[in-house]
Amino acid sequence: MKNFKRYTVTSALPYANGPIHIGHLAGVYVPADIYCRYLRLRGKDVIFIGGSDEHGVPITIKARKEGISPQDVVDRYHEIIKKSFEELGISFDIYSRTTNKVHYETASEIFKTIYEKGEFIEKVTEQYFDEEVNQFLADRYITGTCPHCGNENAYGDQCEKCGTSLNATDLINPKSTLSGSKPVMKETKHWFLPLDKYEPWLRKWILEEHKEWKANVYGQCKSWLDQGLQPRAVSRDLDWGVPVPVEGADGKVLYVWFDAPIGYISATKELTDKWELYWKDSETKLVHFIGKDNIVFHCIVFPAMLKAEGSFILPENVPANEFLNLENDKISTSRNWAVWLHEYLKDFPGKQDVLRYTLTANAPETKDNDFTWADFQARNNNELVAILGNFVNRAMVLTHKYFEGKIPEITEETDYEKQMLAESVKIKANIEYSIENYRFREALKEAMELARWGNKYLADTEPWKLIKTDEARVKTILNISLQVAANISTLIEPFLPFIAE
Ligand code: 2FM
Ligand code: ZN
Repeated sequence: MKNFKRYTVTSALPYANGPIHIGHLAGVYVPADIYCRYLRLRGKDVIFIGGSDEHGVPITIKARKEGISPQDVVDRYHEIIKKSFEELGISFDIYSRTTNKVHYETASEIFKTIYEKGEFIEKVTEQYFDEEVNQFLADRYITGTCPHCGNENAYGDQCEKCGTSLNATDLINPKSTLSGSKPVMKETKHWFLPLDKYEPWLRKWILEEHKEWKANVYGQCKSWLDQGLQPRAVSRDLDWGVPVPVEGADGKVLYVWFDAPIGYISATKELTDKWELYWKDSETKLVHFIGKDNIVFHCIVFPAMLKAEGSFILPENVPANEFLNLENDKISTSRNWAVWLHEYLKDFPGKQDVLRYTLTANAPETKDNDFTWADFQARNNNELVAILGNFVNRAMVLTHKYFEGKIPEITEETDYEKQMLAESVKIKANIEYSIENYRFREALKEAMELARWGNKYLADTEPWKLIKTDEARVKTILNISLQVAANISTLIEPFLPFIAE
């Protein structure tokens, strides 16, 4: 494996139109945080980038519904999201936002560079237009009857009843949600990134050079590539977003999926003057943590943008997770079926690590998984308390009881002690291997294995009985137990930073 000089780790920028829930955490932020905390423990040069994604149509829709401005919407949620991440110990080096000035400048510059290289296709297409409010309609602003299931309230991009993704022109009896009127078709000019042109390069880069990517990620990329890529519009007729920075583009903004990933770069600029080292040096390892619905944008569209621009490095890995369900049902913001992070933090003060533990132990790394409160309770009682807490507590309490809280010396090491220390070393290596391969559940399980060993060691050696006859032996046992406890505290820090401390 190549030895990198530094790491740029990004986590998907959540839309600032609602708070964070456990699905976001298990999919993206907890694993990304584990990875970064681990790298820091190894003494690596790493930056961990996060921020709010503040553009896009859902934000304008929410603003319109509430009679406030899009800026008001994102201001409100950005604060809630940022604060809840902090409280959960997600250790971003920066948590920025895409309405910042530096982001507008960076996104514009990158668009302009690609534009000036002649890499975009300019095309006039027909799109739905609402004549009453004099506005082009984003797909989400159009409803109508789904041609597949007959649902009369399907959106222009998707029918939420049957799940089919749609084009606005597929809808029967389309209606503008802005005025209720029937939209008309009208010509409009947009800029397209010719993904088809990058297809041969993408095939080689992903399918041949990144066979090590997770099976779910690799598989989704392969399926997109096998279907054949089409040019993709990177601009929209909207008044909320980064204005398209070329002449003749009045009333047009960059497509949210064009500007959002650039947010990683803008946030880095905000963080450090040395930002180019983290984005342009081939000795930097770039890793994107995302959920599975973001795979195509991070593995195909964003790399094609970076390639078209020409001066940036590409991701070495994109460890996407699958989805987390809640009590056997899909997490849904519109149905308010979720465990919201800011509410959890209020309801379980000081219990950040119990959530981090449950979400990691049960992370949807290879398939969708389920969060249940019964599992949460069992993991707390049977694992954190009964295994980890129990071992550390016994080692500490006995040391206080017999040796006034001072670490006793080793008097004589038997094979058992040698084995205990050897286990620590072996487990450390296993954890490193698992984390470096993005297998966080496995890594956490290994860390807990050391606490299991500790419990077994105490149960086998019974220092509370031996103290009556062989104090010297008890000294050795508690010294070793405390060493193991100290090792555990280091090994679990990436997963359970509060408990580790
Ligand atoms: O799916 C989402 O929530 C998007 N806001 C993720 C954007 S990731 C990156 F491109 F910023
Ligand atoms: Zn349908």
